[in-house]
Amino acid sequence: MSRPAVQLRPFREADLDLLYRGATDPAFSTPFEWFGFKSPDAVRRRWDEDGFLDKDPHYLVVAEDDGGAVGYVMWREPERGGFGNWEIGALLGPEHRGRGIGTAAQRLLVEHLFATTTAHRIWAGTESENLAEQKSLEKCGFRREGLLRGAVFRDGRWRDSFIYGMLRETGTRP
Ligand SMILES: CC(C)(COP(=O)(O)OP(=O)(O)OC[C@H]1O[C@@H](n2cnc3c(N)ncnc32)[C@H](O)[C@@H]1OP(=O)(O)O)[C@@H](O)C(=O)NCCC(=O)NCCS
Repeated sequence: MSRPAVQLRPFREADLDLLYRGATDPAFSTPFEWFGFKSPDAVRRRWDEDGFLDKDPHYLVVAEDDGGAVGYVMWREPERGGFGNWEIGALLGPEHRGRGIGTAAQRLLVEHLFATTTAHRIWAGTESENLAEQKSLEKCGFRREGLLRGAVFRDGRWRDSFIYGMLRETGTRP
């Protein structure tokens, strides 16, 4: 499959709908990222504050070649003890999944973080049933490091989560 043309860019005001949907629309985040209703006002406050660029968690829009927003990626650094260990995540609208965009976007994010921060290790956690994210991370060059049992509470029960990591020294594989 040829790689889709994808870019990461800062949010524009018109893109805020993506985050509003993430906060208020279960159908947008299902099956793995719906954890209950959140205040859309919090989205607006972060937008006014720093456009999601200066504080954790950071967010960038995933856009197709024509600039149209299809989802977002995020990253954050643990507050204590995890200096240089950046966690990443991605969410695409349901209608944009399964076309290689998530893999391309996460690959771009890794390149961006290694190029613009002193990140030593980039990692992601994903539920043991989330095959799309597992395959996507592996295609980006992440290595499965372990299984956290009962680590995520979603849709009424505790679920296992795999941890994937990548070191700066190792970098991405094609
Ligand atoms: C996870 C996500 C970012 C992956 O992005 P994507 O664009 O849908 O995935 P891709 O098209 O790049 O596919 C990556 C691989 O997973 C496979 N895949 C895609 N959807 C799949 C599914 N539902 N079940 C099993 N495999 C799947 C693809 O076939 C591909 O593998 P291949 O190249 O060997 O064929 C995206 O599906 C998404 O936003 N999901 C909802 C939110 C989420 O789960 N985020 C991760 C939270 S930890």
